[in-house]
Amino acid sequence: MAMRGLMHVSKLLPATARVRVSSFWSGVETGPPDAIFGLVEAHKKDPRPNKVSLAIGAYRDDQGKPWVLPTVRKAEQRIVDKNLDKEYAGIMGYESFCKEAYKLAFGEDDNFKNNSYVTTQTVSGTGALRLAGMFLNKFYPEAKTIYLPNPSWPNHNPVFKQSGLEVKSYRHCNFQNMTFDAAGCYDDLRSIPNKSMVLFHACAHNPTGIDLSLDHWAEVSKICKEKNHLVFVDMAYQGFATGDLEKDSAGLRLLAKDGHKLVLCQSFSKNMGLYGERCGAMTFLTESESEAKAVESQIKIIIRPLYSNPPITGARIATEILTSPDLYSEWLDELKAMAGRIFEMRGKLQQGLINEGSTRDWSFIHTQIGMFCYSGMNQEQVKRLQDEYGIYMTKDGRISMVSLSSNNIGYVAKSMHEVTK
Ligand SMILES: Cc1ncc(COP(=O)(O)O)c(C=O)c1O
Repeated sequence: MAMRGLMHVSKLLPATARVRVSSFWSGVETGPPDAIFGLVEAHKKDPRPNKVSLAIGAYRDDQGKPWVLPTVRKAEQRIVDKNLDKEYAGIMGYESFCKEAYKLAFGEDDNFKNNSYVTTQTVSGTGALRLAGMFLNKFYPEAKTIYLPNPSWPNHNPVFKQSGLEVKSYRHCNFQNMTFDAAGCYDDLRSIPNKSMVLFHACAHNPTGIDLSLDHWAEVSKICKEKNHLVFVDMAYQGFATGDLEKDSAGLRLLAKDGHKLVLCQSFSKNMGLYGERCGAMTFLTESESEAKAVESQIKIIIRPLYSNPPITGARIATEILTSPDLYSEWLDELKAMAGRIFEMRGKLQQGLINEGSTRDWSFIHTQIGMFCYSGMNQEQVKRLQDEYGIYMTKDGRISMVSLSSNNIGYVAKSMHEVTK
């Protein structure tokens, strides 16, 4: 009865009033799907049985299944056994987690132990980047522009734009031979204004898999010192590139040893497989304890109205692994296993292409490192892979190596050869 009454009243409303009631969002235009998650959706809907998704960077085992690290399972059990409460963490997250994240990144070298710094737990790597962007927009008036390597992780651009910064790039990839464009990079770092903000990928550069050698890092550090640039390091893959935590953070540590008061964003998504737990950290190296305190107070002021405080489970798991000697040493083996499987897939993909008769030089597949292979395939070839073969990857030809397995690698190599011959 009540429903009928309502319908009756709405029919009596003048047309304009009715339109106004139902048109709050009529001005909202449909936006484009996310470059990566949109492909995941499209792949899900594809009915072809041999379809392959090479878009997303989330580790799979050789059966193509998500892999929860055994150390993570054990840490979870230990946490359950402790019967902990679910109270809020502080605004900056768990202190013990922050200490461990810092130690993991910088090591236990005396140089770093005595640094003054501030670390906050964040909503994974993306949250760390966004928070850093917002802080820099507010407190680094010297520059409103952040320089990213070209190319860079596609989400960097919107993260920083939405933090209110302008985004420009410096040269990273030599697209002719898929190596690091050292000369181009150095030139650009020299020619941008002094005190610019410059972002570097610590290791496993996404999307290219092209990393800097220690000599490159030394030169970059020198130029950034001369130019007084603010160095910003995104470390989303520590331990995941080479399987060795020290090697993967060697560039970062070199920069810190050279005295850069850098900003660091860390993610535990990949190296602990804590993707959905949203576990990360952001660190500012500071000149003094008082500076660290001031920075910390302002970080809190940004976080509190944003998400109040970070999620607790991922940080508890990470802390349990990092502080339990048995879990820690097992985790080191897991890192080696993940990096090793990716390395093996690189070799197999290259060999598969050769076996198919490809005459292209695919040697870079094996020299690139980390989660992705920057294949050099153009948009048309990528589209053909999707339309004709049901193989999904980002438009820039980036292949998520962790999604390759013994089951699909032959098919992928054959299809890649078909579209590139
Ligand atoms: C370069 C880079 N930075 C940051 C992230 C952030 O990852 P998450 O938010 O999952 O920790 C990613 C994830 O793919 C990445 O590749």
